[in-house]
Amino acid sequence: MIINMNLTYSPKKLSQSKADCEVVLVSDRNLKHKWVRDAAVLRQLDYKGEDGEAVYLPDRKRIYVGIASLDYDEIRQGSAAAIRQLKKYRIKSLKIGLYGDDPAAGAQAAAEGFILGGYEFDEFKKEKAKNNISRIVLAADAYKARPIDPQAVREGIKAGKIIGESVNYARDLVNLPTSALNSVELAERAKRLAKEIKAEARVYGKDFLEKEGMGAFLAVNQASACPPRLIHLSHRPAKADKRIVLVGKGLTYDTGGLSLKPTKGMVLMKMDMGGAGAVLGIFRAAVLLGLPLEIHAIIGATDNAIGRHAYRPGDILRSRSGQTIEVKNTDAEGRLVLADCLNYAQDLEPDYILDLATLTGACLVGLGHYTIGALGYNEDLIKTIVAEGKASGEQAAWLPFNKYIKKSLKSKVADISNISQDEQIGGAISAGMFLGAFIDKKYRDNWVHLDIAGPSLVDKPWGYHPYGASGSGVRLILRWLENSANK
Ligand code: BES
Ligand code: ZN
Ligand code: ZN
Repeated sequence: MIINMNLTYSPKKLSQSKADCEVVLVSDRNLKHKWVRDAAVLRQLDYKGEDGEAVYLPDRKRIYVGIASLDYDEIRQGSAAAIRQLKKYRIKSLKIGLYGDDPAAGAQAAAEGFILGGYEFDEFKKEKAKNNISRIVLAADAYKARPIDPQAVREGIKAGKIIGESVNYARDLVNLPTSALNSVELAERAKRLAKEIKAEARVYGKDFLEKEGMGAFLAVNQASACPPRLIHLSHRPAKADKRIVLVGKGLTYDTGGLSLKPTKGMVLMKMDMGGAGAVLGIFRAAVLLGLPLEIHAIIGATDNAIGRHAYRPGDILRSRSGQTIEVKNTDAEGRLVLADCLNYAQDLEPDYILDLATLTGACLVGLGHYTIGALGYNEDLIKTIVAEGKASGEQAAWLPFNKYIKKSLKSKVADISNISQDEQIGGAISAGMFLGAFIDKKYRDNWVHLDIAGPSLVDKPWGYHPYGASGSGVRLILRWLENSANK
């Protein structure tokens, strides 16, 4: 649900700004800061301001939230924790000061935190999540003695709002079960988004894929009750420094196909479109932020079903690139869809091509729930993306390619096999190298693959993420687009 929260800058001091509750972030247990005005009460409650420790004092109209440091992601987490607790109460408005080294960046982080923290997916619940908070004031008071540039703070708040809402947009799409969001519906929603933000949208069906020779994508769709959709949104501002193409895995459901998944591994596979959600979220924000970049969002949307039409282990597919693929496991379907979409994407002659996908269980096992896998041929490019991890709050780790894993993808009967001879071992890298085989030499150094299988789905809430979809990848890539892509 996109929450409509009015976030504004007030030129008044924190103590003079009016609101139902004041949010005080206690950094590194510093209870001596001038904004801690209830020291005696806090002592009585044995409140220490530990990371994540929150206490609401209704009669004082203040909430104290402990954060580990003044890093921007801590500010995000603190703001999120505050709203999560307060939204249950009869409180309509909040106020907060400006934290961090740069008050404008601090304002942006707080804005993102409030919007991310206020999110809950309740579309299918009779009892809707409560949230009475509709107004948040960021007051002209800096936690550290820093000059405040009102215009920069206003812009920071605006950017934080766009980014937070775009993450929530992605979360919503990914949270919808397949019964509510199949490939056709996903394409409809993408078209609606394009209309709202005045971007261009093209949606292609089976005939087009056949004409284009997208045999790998088509095979995955073979048993589906729903036609495939190739979604292509584009935005061409008058002044564009670079052309960026984003490609997303849009598996609205992944049964594993005939190489069927066990039930336990299948329930969450309604969320196998985290890449598609992220790509649309990034696209939405990039357009609304007015980034001077030409941006394309390409999504391969289908589900991976079973049935008498299903593609089979042993099938040999002909991809759009001309390379043939031996299917050794129908559960390695995302890379088949992406192989054709990446090939299509390179026709656009991009400066950068990034794909985002919930691609492998191996990446989840290897890197866990909090880290995105970043893979590709260009180490320097990958490093510029990984470097945005700290400020964006989305960690990524480089998983290097090597020639041995490349060899393990050889097939006896086709140009390449869709899984490694070593099966799951090193699975995140072999999947990445499979995709790499569909990147032309010319674009090798311009491509990065992001495996978001770990952080995309949240089982145990962490940071500012409730249960369900996290919108993984949106903030990391947006930061990279803002800071590096135009250079
Ligand atoms: N969608 C899955 C990957 C996945 C698993 C994402 C768990 C999120 C959580 C993907 O299509 C898949 O099934 N991959 C297989 C590849 C294997 C057959 C080589 C996997 O990871 O098991
Ligand atoms: Zn699969
Ligand atoms: Zn999948």
